[in-house]
Amino acid sequence: MSVWIVDFGSQYTQLITRKMRELGFASEIMTLEESLERLKKNKPRALVLSGGPQSVFEDTTDYSPFFAEQKLPILGVCYGMQILGQFFGGKVEKGVQGEYGPATIHGVNDFKIPGCPLAHDVWMSHSDHVAITPKDFTKILESHNGLTAGIQHNSRPILGLQFHPEVQNTVHGKEILGYFLKKVAGLTEDWNGKAMLQGCLDEVAKVKGQKVLCAFSGGVDSLVAAMLTHQVIGKDLYCFFVDNGLLRPQDLHHIKLLKEKTPLHIEIIDAKDEFMGNLAGVKDPEEKRKIIGKTFIDIFEKKVKSYADSHGIHFDHLLQGTLYPDVIESLSPHKKGGKSSTIKSHHNVGGLPERMKLKLLEPLRFLFKDEVRAMGEELGLPHDWVWRHPFPGPGIGVRVLGAVDEKSVVKVQLSDQILFEELKNHNLYSSTWQAFTVLLPVKTVGVKGDGRVYEEVIALRLVNSQDGMTATVTEMPWSVLAKISSRICNEVAGITRVVYDLTPKPPGTIEWE
Ligand code: XMP
Repeated sequence: MSVWIVDFGSQYTQLITRKMRELGFASEIMTLEESLERLKKNKPRALVLSGGPQSVFEDTTDYSPFFAEQKLPILGVCYGMQILGQFFGGKVEKGVQGEYGPATIHGVNDFKIPGCPLAHDVWMSHSDHVAITPKDFTKILESHNGLTAGIQHNSRPILGLQFHPEVQNTVHGKEILGYFLKKVAGLTEDWNGKAMLQGCLDEVAKVKGQKVLCAFSGGVDSLVAAMLTHQVIGKDLYCFFVDNGLLRPQDLHHIKLLKEKTPLHIEIIDAKDEFMGNLAGVKDPEEKRKIIGKTFIDIFEKKVKSYADSHGIHFDHLLQGTLYPDVIESLSPHKKGGKSSTIKSHHNVGGLPERMKLKLLEPLRFLFKDEVRAMGEELGLPHDWVWRHPFPGPGIGVRVLGAVDEKSVVKVQLSDQILFEELKNHNLYSSTWQAFTVLLPVKTVGVKGDGRVYEEVIALRLVNSQDGMTATVTEMPWSVLAKISSRICNEVAGITRVVYDLTPKPPGTIEWE
């Protein structure tokens, strides 16, 4: 049993889950349809009606199944509070100008949230508002604009909040959610590292006795997924690592280390020529991604067939390190279609052909990246392995702008290695979420020795982020940047100029292609 969070499409919904888990409460996101369906058979510990872009005036949903059970704790956030207001006979009014962004709220009618000052800052994002509090409720919070910011039922465990307690700008968000979970709902904590690990192990136990193959990249997600799967099924797990020729020196080094230091059966498949051949002359980034994805599948398929033909080993499951944000994204009311059963292109495996008949095993599908990292540490994996920067599936293929050839790949490999070494030497690797180099295929003039040269440019891209959805530019000490630049110009043949990318996301994406 967990807390169910009904997703009405707010961009913040997954943050409610995160915050609740940080507070020690298991919670999961689901669509309105799924929650109404599941309610027929099960009961959550508590229900959260989240925010959303729609207006209650256009909503014809019958919410009575949610409110039929007197004891079920319910939290309505933003749009969710307006649902409460309307359902219980209050009055929701269309806002004239609404409240967007920071606001200050204070307790009214002698109300104060434990652990919060009387007045505190929150994040608002609404136009409609509850203008008349429903009969059985008390108005408990008000904004500095005089609008109702919170209501609570007088006898049932129901709370409505007009603002978003889950976002960082709501300074006391955790205390407010904690107030709902512990005081209003009367729940005790049920989510911790051990429970999380056990849940994943139980998921893997379902495929015991069957052969599982893993498309292994060595990144934290596939590593943690493989390690815990290995704990349960041991030698029935086979990890395939495809060397596509678009890797950095650190990636190959890492895989060799994992092969040596972990009990995993890792097979390195050298497919450099096949990838480079298929990519020859292709300039369009999406086309390159498609080719890389397809080549990967072809190689994978051949390998699976050769295991069946020569070793009599037939794989039943494909292990993937799919994480919760991808699952949520495919569930979102605004991204209909493509449920999590289709393998996403961002997952390095561009979708396996039907004929391979592999079922998916995704033990991490309910976890966020930071939870996977915590689990990696719980499994005893070294800090460096758990905290590696993300590296995209198409690798250097999208870091050489335009057509990819071996010479260009080497320029990125060498410059990336210099960047990596300098970040490590200056103890700065962990101070940035991702760091890489990009080759710009433009000629720029320079002076080397006594003569002029026309050579290419390397861009340094260093960003900080939580999940890659947005990013800020990492501030690096000038002296370190100067050292990296100097080393690249001196050590990488064909490069005369190094630039630092100062674009946050948005508007720029993290990768250049
Ligand atoms: P963007 O460039 O979209 O990147 O801002 C966000 C994060 O996703 C990674 N990325 C990819 N990962 N396949 C992947 O596996 C891809 O095609 C791909 N494109 C971008 C990027 O490195 C960053 O961490």
